[in-house]
Amino acid sequence: MSEVAKITLGEETHEFPVIVGSENEKAIDISKLRGSTGYVTIDPGFKNTGSTTSGITFLNGEEGILRYRGYPIEQLAEQASFIEVAYLLINGDLPTKSELESFENEITRHTMVHEDMKGLLRAFPAGAHPMGVAASLIVSLSTFYPESQDPNRGKEAMDLSIIRLLAKLPTIAAWSHKFSERHPVVYPKNKYNYVENFLSMMFEVPTEEYKIDPVVAKALNTLLILHADHEQNCSTSTVRVVGSSHANLYASVAAGISALWGPLHGGANQAVIEMLEAIKADGGDIDKWINKAKDKEDPFRLMGFGHRVYKNFDPRATIIKKECDEVLKALGINDPVLEIAKKIEKVALEDEYFVKRGLYPNVDFYSGIIYRAIGIPTEMFTVMFAIGRLPGWIAQWKEMLEDKAPIGRPRQIYTGATVRDYTDIANR
Ligand code: CMC
Repeated sequence: MSEVAKITLGEETHEFPVIVGSENEKAIDISKLRGSTGYVTIDPGFKNTGSTTSGITFLNGEEGILRYRGYPIEQLAEQASFIEVAYLLINGDLPTKSELESFENEITRHTMVHEDMKGLLRAFPAGAHPMGVAASLIVSLSTFYPESQDPNRGKEAMDLSIIRLLAKLPTIAAWSHKFSERHPVVYPKNKYNYVENFLSMMFEVPTEEYKIDPVVAKALNTLLILHADHEQNCSTSTVRVVGSSHANLYASVAAGISALWGPLHGGANQAVIEMLEAIKADGGDIDKWINKAKDKEDPFRLMGFGHRVYKNFDPRATIIKKECDEVLKALGINDPVLEIAKKIEKVALEDEYFVKRGLYPNVDFYSGIIYRAIGIPTEMFTVMFAIGRLPGWIAQWKEMLEDKAPIGRPRQIYTGATVRDYTDIANR
């Protein structure tokens, strides 16, 4: 007999079905709770709330497991290309050789952005943060392709919007950097693959030929794969909730980019490097900063530490730490902040405060050091995360629409004033 959950309220006991996932994860289905009892549940930050079932990503925070469509992250990071992983996430299975060729070809043919977009880019002030620019330009795609505004126009139309978005985000990201610096933009080139094309648009200058460094391209490919999906995190839930109103793909993903920007989420990679720089400038006294992070009166947190779901280790951090050492060695870079990062990690991993709370380095503790080594400016770090997370956002948005998810609309418990009469301003 299938398991049920019983909730007793006063004299009455109500039964609710238990849902079991393919990895034996269990949930109490309370979708009929309010209808049958008048009660709602309350769960700030959704710490115990499953907002959906999903067949995209499996994550077990206790055991440090992350799999995309069943494939372990370790295998994908080692062997796959980012575009292959994007195909996997969005379509459900690894592509055959011809499927991959046609997917890559489609993306390559859509990497140009409309020339009028330069007018938008020009309107931003010099030094504009590229996350603000990227979010604005992504939502503006819905005005350049007005037919995309209705997400229910069928598979062909949805596929085209998806291809356009995958193809254009790297161009928009690199151009937002070039415009912010007031440098000439570099157009996409069809001879390059996805990662190489981004590197060329970021780093090529008119005065000299740009050569792709395979070490840099490989490191970037790995970083993008590691960020490609992470089930129902803050930005992905935002994409799903916005999309649940049947807002178009570009609007939904632009909202996801905004959610990612915060330092508690994707913005942590920028915050980590800024923190390590600050510690270095302050004389490198690790204990002082560890104590600040532990002090409840001090708002400082150790950026790049802790995770809502990983309480033993973040499998992405394990891969990235190794990659970080390899990249720095291959590029012959001796970055003093890496030493500070390693010291902090060592001290924190042995400190009772961090051990008791299950606070370990997360994916972003080391990603910024790699981005820096390959020449990405600090303000672009979170944009890099957005390029990586894009296939996940798309896959989750598509799944949400295909599952005919109801509009996202949580309940609340009102704690404000009870009814009172309006008084004339003269009598207040
Ligand atoms: N430094 C110091 N104390 C911390 C930290 C930290 N980085 N993270 C959590 N804590 C403490 C927190 O004060 C709390 O202590 P207490 O139980 O005494 O009140 C306890 O650990 C639990 O923290 P929480 O804030 O309730 O946990 P959460 O699940 O709501 O937050 C988090 C998770 C990632 C927002 C948080 O750990 C954090 O702010 N970390 C720093 C920012 C960061 O690195 N974010 C990137 C996450 S990975 C990239 C991504 O996927 O977004």
